[in-house]
Amino acid sequence: MPATASDYTFLREFILSRSENILDPSRDDLFEARLYRLMQSHNMTGLDELVSKLRLSADPVLEQAVVEAMTINETSFFRDLAAFELLRQKLLPQLIEKCGGHHTLRFWSAASSSGQEAYSLAMVIRCHFPQIADRSVEIIGTDINAEMVRRAHAGRYPRMEVNRGLPARLLLKYFTRDGEEWEIAPELRALCRFQQRNLAQTLPMFDRFDGILMRNVLYYFPQETQKRILQNVHAALQPDGFLLLGSSEQSVCPDLWQPVLDGKVCYYTPR
Ligand SMILES: C[S@@+](CC[C@H](N)C(=O)[O-])C[C@H]1O[C@@H](n2cnc3c(N)ncnc32)[C@H](O)[C@@H]1O
Repeated sequence: MPATASDYTFLREFILSRSENILDPSRDDLFEARLYRLMQSHNMTGLDELVSKLRLSADPVLEQAVVEAMTINETSFFRDLAAFELLRQKLLPQLIEKCGGHHTLRFWSAASSSGQEAYSLAMVIRCHFPQIADRSVEIIGTDINAEMVRRAHAGRYPRMEVNRGLPARLLLKYFTRDGEEWEIAPELRALCRFQQRNLAQTLPMFDRFDGILMRNVLYYFPQETQKRILQNVHAALQPDGFLLLGSSEQSVCPDLWQPVLDGKVCYYTPR
């Protein structure tokens, strides 16, 4: 039987209740496209059957697989290059000067997808701030999607992905070709670790971070969720740390976050 309007409504509400991602009803066709393989692997004939299973709430593994299939994982190395220039020229030098090498600098790539953002930051640090890279940097990437976390941890990328945003000299310097894939160098991997976390749930108490990159994810959440996440992130940041959002995102909590415009890039400091 073809899926009904109420099946689609159920699916949108299901996703909203799990990852808090809003899915636009005009894009209901995405459900078929993105859930096709999952349905095939469970020998299901259509979305109506999947919805019937989900309505029973009896299969947490299936539920998580549906949530993960519906996340948008678009990312690339050095996405929005201006933000990485700002890190290199201003935000990292300021942090290093302030901490004077006395404590480990901790960064959080929140919604890290397959890891390109975290590894791009690691490359900036290795290339331009080798004095801190060896022992006093930690980059934690988190994402709701377990498959993305696994890929980030593996640090292996097909040609198409290393061709997006990664300068050739950095590809040659920090990656080794292995068949059809390029593997990230151990010296970058050593700076990064990845965990599965849902940003919309209360965050576990991380030690505070010096810098947080939470880019291109806020716009998937309703405004109330954005506020809650921005409050949690505020609590997870050092008072003199910084927050970078995506270039088309902004904080909906003006009382908590002070925007600072630097050239074309806006970053935030905690109030
Ligand atoms: C468009 S990607 C952005 C990746 C990277 N930050 C960048 O800017 O290139 C959005 C990521 O957010 C993740 N995501 C969506 N909802 C989430 C949630 N509730 N908790 C954690 N991650 C989530 C998705 O799995 C996806 O990998």
